[in-house]
Amino acid sequence: MGRLDGKVALITGTAGGQGAAAARLFAAEGATVVGCDLDEARCLAVAAEIRDVGGDVHAMAPVDLADPEAAAAWVADAVAAAGGIDIVYNNASAPRVGPFADMTWDDWRFTLHNELDLIFTVSSAAWPHLAARGGGVIINTASVSAHRGATFIEQAGHGAAKGGVLAVTRHLAASGARHNIRANSISPGLIVTPQIEPFLEEPGHPVHEMASSHPLGRLGQPDDVARVALFLASDDAAYLNAVDIVVDGGQSLIS
Ligand SMILES: NC(=O)c1ccc[n+]([C@@H]2O[C@H](COP(=O)([O-])OP(=O)(O)OC[C@H]3O[C@@H](n4cnc5c(N)ncnc54)[C@H](O)[C@@H]3O)[C@@H](O)[C@H]2O)c1
Repeated sequence: MGRLDGKVALITGTAGGQGAAAARLFAAEGATVVGCDLDEARCLAVAAEIRDVGGDVHAMAPVDLADPEAAAAWVADAVAAAGGIDIVYNNASAPRVGPFADMTWDDWRFTLHNELDLIFTVSSAAWPHLAARGGGVIINTASVSAHRGATFIEQAGHGAAKGGVLAVTRHLAASGARHNIRANSISPGLIVTPQIEPFLEEPGHPVHEMASSHPLGRLGQPDDVARVALFLASDDAAYLNAVDIVVDGGQSLIS
């Protein structure tokens, strides 16, 4: 028995670190997974890996979820392929980070558009399908960046976008309650994925100090987040609604 047997899970950004880990885990737990990404080659390769071990997965790429029409088309294709939607895991995003002094208006707009707007484009298209199913689950990816400032990588736009993700999650939970749609978020700390690999490859970058001073002695891995997403997606979390779970090994609370 899988924890997601019979469920259809839409996961965004399945070419990336956390999205691919979630796609593998959700499929292993019995879900029909529908993934998508901007990165066609990697998205299809992840789906092929999942299929090779017997998982039920559809992958559609390239899809730019920042374009409302493309997001709606992906959701419609997902419903046509899988027959409905039970779980929406809004994982994909693309920030621009760096010193605030160097941040341009374009950087700010790009980050809000590619981190916060994606929650709307996907969730609004999926909403009637979740309601028609008698309810479902939305999981949004926020960040510890929404909870505190950061000097190791300056990220004002990312923090603002993820603060918006935290807020909209509570409002989706409010709007969803009468449809039996639960909405929660996950706030990852530093997780070793393609999004932070460029910093890890830079000798002397402050992320190395974050890693060596981490209370658990290691940075997070994509599976650390995927296991929490699995819990939120499953019936084990049936009475969890409008909450944010920080997945950072305690780093933001222990000094
Ligand atoms: N890695 C970290 O340290 C960290 C920390 C906090 C929060 N997060 C959040 O976790 C989530 C997953 O990130 P990750 O670390 O796996 O990064 P990642 O870069 O490995 O994966 C993100 C994926 O989203 C895809 N994507 C971006 N914009 C898209 C769009 N418009 N349409 C379709 N696909 C798009 C990218 O192509 C990529 O494959 C993101 O929301 C990120 O902000 C990551």
